[in-house]
Amino acid sequence: MTDETKLPLSKDLLHRAIETAFEASKKAYVPYSHFPVGACVITCDDTLIPGANIENSSYGLSNCAERTAMFSAVMQGYLKDRIKALVVVAPTEEITPPCGACRQIMLDLLTLNTPVICTNHKAIKIFTVSELMPFAFSDESMK
Ligand code: THU
Repeated sequence: MTDETKLPLSKDLLHRAIETAFEASKKAYVPYSHFPVGACVITCDDTLIPGANIENSSYGLSNCAERTAMFSAVMQGYLKDRIKALVVVAPTEEITPPCGACRQIMLDLLTLNTPVICTNHKAIKIFTVSELMPFAFSDESMK
């Protein structure tokens, strides 16, 4: 786990990204779980790209906040080393960890060293993608 002070981001940018993720969570479409999650990609030029979870009556098709933000970032021309960090905000007592599907997507769209910043407003936990996905299957596995 990484310490907040070691992030390649100013405190101000981090707080704006957390706020952007929190605002995004208000747009979550969660009629089944009633569990809104917000996310925010911080790009290399400090653009903040929000995402929220979008559920579906066929539950397995639901899209997590992290994936919404990462897919949106790709559409705006940001992926891998053009992304500084990904923030995830959920309104829980304990910090919400990203699900397995999102971790697999992170392997393609972020770098192994990209910080994933998870917070519930009270506490913050920061992991790199490689910490979240040890011994993972990725494009490297097919070389
Ligand atoms: N969810 C996210 O959006 N991100 C996470 O990190 C964990 C789970 C969503 C998926 C689903 O819409 C709801 O939370 C309950 O699992």
